[in-house]
Amino acid sequence: MQALIPYNILRATVTGRPHSVTQNWPIWPFTTIEKINTCLTDYAKESLVKYRNQSAQSNDPRPNLFDTIMGEKGQEAAVTEDELVSNAKLYLVAGTDTLAITLTYLLWALLGNTHARGRLLQDIELAGLPDKPTNDQLRSISYLDHVIDETLRLHPVIVGPLPRVVPEGGRMLGGQFIPQDITVNPFTYRLQRNSDLFPDPLTWNPDRWECATQEMKYSIYAFGGGSRVCMGRHLARMELRMAVFAFVRTFKDAELAYGVEGFSPGGMDIVETIVAKPGAEKMLVR
Ligand code: HEM
Repeated sequence: MQALIPYNILRATVTGRPHSVTQNWPIWPFTTIEKINTCLTDYAKESLVKYRNQSAQSNDPRPNLFDTIMGEKGQEAAVTEDELVSNAKLYLVAGTDTLAITLTYLLWALLGNTHARGRLLQDIELAGLPDKPTNDQLRSISYLDHVIDETLRLHPVIVGPLPRVVPEGGRMLGGQFIPQDITVNPFTYRLQRNSDLFPDPLTWNPDRWECATQEMKYSIYAFGGGSRVCMGRHLARMELRMAVFAFVRTFKDAELAYGVEGFSPGGMDIVETIVAKPGAEKMLVR
């Protein structure tokens, strides 16, 4: 999926033609990309059917990402079916690699840190939660959130530009006046590795979040910010809580499998494509 976005951009840039024109050109790599696109479209359509079936049978009043665009049950949706499928594809692309990479770095950091791992396991056991806890129950384990916050800080998945246009009247940014209409790009790495706020910034240390200041919290830009902030950030945090809880509780003796299939610490060095991911594209545990 990750490949789809850069290739679509590349294709449009190289050919100077939109996707709708080039999609049926029988030339590699267009053919491969089109296959990925078709798989994604089919999966998005299947997921919408599943969602509609589940939604028809459920009395759960809590809204989800689709409710805002689908409209009230039984009423006509605010968008066309094609737009719905397109949104479903966006959610799949936006919420898959981002979450998988964050979880990969989190488990890697946790398994390599005896103190944090012991503390988390202790807090999880003390909480005495059922096997399938709710999100609210998991939120009561504050160290679990510290582990997630620290991973989002040190290993943000989206580090490319998130451009913003300065509004009317200009704004002061970092002590500097920036006139209106100028495009600025917050730099996630710099913000999140600022040693004034995060001493020893390259060390993964969840304990630093125990007495977190407002400034530390505001400096976390892993989900972006403002009106275009990540739509799935609460869902992502919920999924991370559930996955980490289940992993830590189930695999108490798990360890990093360095040496297996060529996996080494260097394989976790960040390689930036459209997302910042481990160069090895895998993290092995035994
Ligand atoms: C750890 C996991 C995730 C990370 C690190 C992440 C990060 C981001 C970032 C940095 C942005 C750009 C925000 C901005 O421009 O200010 C974004 C946008 C977005 N994300 Fe996520 N995301 C994650 C998970 C998810 C999930 C699970 C979903 C949905 C299922 C999702 C859906 C979206 C959507 C729809 C946008 C576009 C919002 C807009 O432009 O209005 N994300 N995400």
